[in-house]
Amino acid sequence: MKTFPADFTWGTATASYQIEGAWNEDGKGPSIWDAFTQTPGKIAAGDHGNVACDHYHRMEQDVALMAAMGLKAYRFSIAWSRIMPTGRGEVNAEGIAFYSRLLDTLAKHHITPWVTLYHWDLPLALQLELDGWLNPVMADHFAAYARVCFEHFGDRVKHWITFNEPWVIAIMGHSNGVMAPGRTSNTEPYLVGHQLLRSHGRAVAIYRREFQTAQGGQIGITNNCDWREPKTDSPADKAAAQRALEFFIAWFADPIYLGDYPAVMRERLGDRLPQFSDEDRKLLAGSSDFFGLNHYSTLYAENKSADDMAKPNPYGNGGISEDQDVELSYDPAWKTSSMGWSFVPWGCLKLLRWIDQRYDHPPIVITENGCALEDDLVDGTVHDADRVDFIQTYLSACHDAIESGVDLRGYFVWTLMDNFEWACGFTQRFGLYYTDFDTGERYPKDSAAAYAQIIADNGVA
Ligand code: GAL
Repeated sequence: MKTFPADFTWGTATASYQIEGAWNEDGKGPSIWDAFTQTPGKIAAGDHGNVACDHYHRMEQDVALMAAMGLKAYRFSIAWSRIMPTGRGEVNAEGIAFYSRLLDTLAKHHITPWVTLYHWDLPLALQLELDGWLNPVMADHFAAYARVCFEHFGDRVKHWITFNEPWVIAIMGHSNGVMAPGRTSNTEPYLVGHQLLRSHGRAVAIYRREFQTAQGGQIGITNNCDWREPKTDSPADKAAAQRALEFFIAWFADPIYLGDYPAVMRERLGDRLPQFSDEDRKLLAGSSDFFGLNHYSTLYAENKSADDMAKPNPYGNGGISEDQDVELSYDPAWKTSSMGWSFVPWGCLKLLRWIDQRYDHPPIVITENGCALEDDLVDGTVHDADRVDFIQTYLSACHDAIESGVDLRGYFVWTLMDNFEWACGFTQRFGLYYTDFDTGERYPKDSAAAYAQIIADNGVA
């Protein structure tokens, strides 16, 4: 048995738009995901999150599912437009009441909340009126919204995450347009990324100045990154893998831990990459009390020649191709999820070590890890042996990381129950619980019991 530190955080994670439903109830304003899902052709099978898992109405039962698993922590996100229907101005008391009830219910079951302020569902009004994250004024609006959350929930929330995966907001939302707001551009992603970082810095400064001492919590940001393994031992491929990681996670982590964007991004992007003002630089320095990491998979990275650039590649390079000159590929021997993401636990270990070294040994929390599978509900249960194996082998890699000196503090499975998987709609199932999207019923998968056992043992075999 590989056991973890006694105070290791064991959790599952969700996001508001993916589970809540109740999209226009109790004063909630529309978000960019409400609009995006109504746009023909954007979501598989025309699915939408109007009802999703109906968590808004089933919250108590869902917390009971968590308690039954012995979860120590639960990461969820707040829908900004439930709190402020148009993103600014008036606060919606019913929105406050919902999250307040959720926090009280978690407390009753001794489950520690980890709260994400922004998991992609921007109030639609801010997109229409201000062009959303392209507008520098967004930092003020985000900070004002964050303050409302600290004021109302900070007595019970001791773990705040400002943003979930700025990389996805920038690239999927503004480069390839696969996610809301569905824009396609090769300049906007870098402008959006910049405003997200500024907004993060602003919210953290408010928390630290006005709330942290009295409330005694922590605040950070969650970035996503898959591992990039050099395809060969050649110096060119090694440099390509490093470059791919820098364009992925260092884009958002370097300004916080090292003071500016990675040099390789400055060289390659020139004027397309904004400069930080002195004030922003100061606000960003050291602005994360922990290193939040969402990690799912691994791909090989290869230096891209001019010939390669001409060939179509389904994996692209995980960003804007011309900017990186990296080609990604996988080993056909690797097991893959129904999303086509490879199961490579050693990639998780390597990434944790890479972060540990580059950022001088920060406390790291894996705020998401999991896999989608073609789950079949048979007699009220799902035998998801591959997901059990995924969780065990990734946790084993996490344990190896801790043994090698990485300060890993916690792990959250993505996700509690099958939910609305963005552009894939309901076609991809990541949950420990199976959701029947017609009836709304949840059914335990084998992985729920396996994870409960891991938590009870505080370790993996
Ligand atoms: C993450 C995201 C989650 C979830 C997961 C699986 O990028 O934060 O909301 O969808 O991927 O695709």
